[in-house]
Amino acid sequence: MRKSLQFIVTAVFLFVQQPFLTAASRAPVRAHHGIVVSDDPIAARTGMEILQRGGNAIDAAVAVAFTMAVTYPEAGNIGGGGFMVVRLANGTTETIDFREKAPAAATQNMYLDEHGNFLPEKSTYGHLSTGVPGSVAGLLLALEKFGTMKRADLLQPAVTFAENGFPLTYEMAEKFKRVVPEFSKFPASMKQFTKNGVPYGEGDLFKQPDLAATLRRIQEYGHDGFYSGKTADMIAAEMKRGGGLISKEDLLSYEPVMREPVRGTYRGYEIISMGPSSSGGTALIQILNILEGYDVQSLGWNSAREVHLLAETMRRVFADRAEFLGDADFVKVPLPWLLSKKYADERRATIDSLRATPSSAISHGIPPAHESDQTTHFSIVDKDGNCVSVTTTLNGLFGSKVVVDGAGFLLNNEMDDFSAKPGAPNMDGLVGSTANAIVPEKRMLSSMSPTIVLKEGKPFMVLGARGSSRIITSVAQVIINVVDFHMNIQEAVDAPRIHQQWLPDKIFSEERGLSPDTVEKLKAMGYDVDTHSYSAIVNAVLINVQDGFLFGAPDARGSGEAAGY
Ligand code: DON
Repeated sequence: MRKSLQFIVTAVFLFVQQPFLTAASRAPVRAHHGIVVSDDPIAARTGMEILQRGGNAIDAAVAVAFTMAVTYPEAGNIGGGGFMVVRLANGTTETIDFREKAPAAATQNMYLDEHGNFLPEKSTYGHLSTGVPGSVAGLLLALEKFGTMKRADLLQPAVTFAENGFPLTYEMAEKFKRVVPEFSKFPASMKQFTKNGVPYGEGDLFKQPDLAATLRRIQEYGHDGFYSGKTADMIAAEMKRGGGLISKEDLLSYEPVMREPVRGTYRGYEIISMGPSSSGGTALIQILNILEGYDVQSLGWNSAREVHLLAETMRRVFADRAEFLGDADFVKVPLPWLLSKKYADERRATIDSLRATPSSAISHGIPPAHESDQTTHFSIVDKDGNCVSVTTTLNGLFGSKVVVDGAGFLLNNEMDDFSAKPGAPNMDGLVGSTANAIVPEKRMLSSMSPTIVLKEGKPFMVLGARGSSRIITSVAQVIINVVDFHMNIQEAVDAPRIHQQWLPDKIFSEERGLSPDTVEKLKAMGYDVDTHSYSAIVNAVLINVQDGFLFGAPDARGSGEAAGY
């Protein structure tokens, strides 16, 4: 009797202490006013301080992004590009496409040998793999359009971290060490990321004086501090030295673009996400549209039947991605048709509810004639309800591995996101068609999916991820986990995920993500299941529409942080 009373008291105590107890995750970070969820704890705290000083979510996003170029160099960048989705408290929605572009001298077959074979190393490593960077232009445009603070103040934390240095974590020092063989071909990269050739260790102070000087030029001259003058001269000289294509004219003519977001709905929730030149938002909405026709909740989370429906949906959407998606400034992307519920109904009708359809039997849909035609994500909400969702990248870990000599920053290897040869997989195993072929000044197709979800017209979730093609399927699964399975945001982010991308014809599951008997059932349905795969790293905020509390969830797979106040 006494024992059971004690049990009840303990249970009530635990519940009162932690009303958000979850099956497998810690509770999300709760904040009253504003929150920043980022892969990098230093940047998350920097962003929160900007919010506390009265800056809005866009100000914080600019400070976070520039800080990450210093404190999270594997993906944070000024030499890469990305996408921003904004929803202002007054209801305005906007996206900024600051994706890299192919240099003017790029050619369709630049990564093929004389026999027409694709040479993947050329598109992933070194100077030739770099697209014209967009990050600085995109962030400064966001600040000009939606920010409230001074450029110099928002860049200052980044300058200070670059000048004074910061102690390296074990993970970061190990990552630097791992890439030394690839850095070793480039003296400026060795200078930046080693101590005269000796790898940095945990706790070493990591200073970047050249980068600090570059950031100071941006602080002082804005866009021109990067795209012309000394920085541009150094980029062009670096390109010449290493046989790259980016010229001073390419830099001068780079412009970020403000575009309408793509929009959809999922069981009454509104989805606002990134349109082309990312495939992310389009594919995300297509996945949700198809799944909406199933009662996935009744099948049970992660059951073989639910995984089957997810996989079949993803397979069909990625077949469309490969055929239709590319830079809409260069190719006609049949967006209204792809995003329509009617097309989702047609695609859903081809799914056998009990068996896998081999990818060889699935092709892209046929549009109606009249329509023919190493990354990092952070999510920010401020005290007024402005929401910003940003994904930015150098593509691979440390991008092309090339540091611009004298300027102290890494260049991206984003050219690999083009389809260098129809049907030849890129480093993410993705295939494409002419829609994503290399054309001078075209943007390469992305999977980045910065997204904002509304409930009853009010911001409900701000999320996105790193992880290439897995970004799309991970963002979809986090939304499904919240909407269909009522998980709290941390649990929804941490829960094991699966991935299917049409080709290769496999379900990818994280280690221990599926039980052995679920795998057996899936195999019996006709699937090839890879149970040793990985997933994306999602960073999300959920806003409780009733009381306005903000819940931040950095993915347990990474070492990020939610910093709120
Ligand atoms: O734009 C894209 O889809 C890729 N360049 C993203 C690369 C990525 O997410 C790598 N992340 N860890």
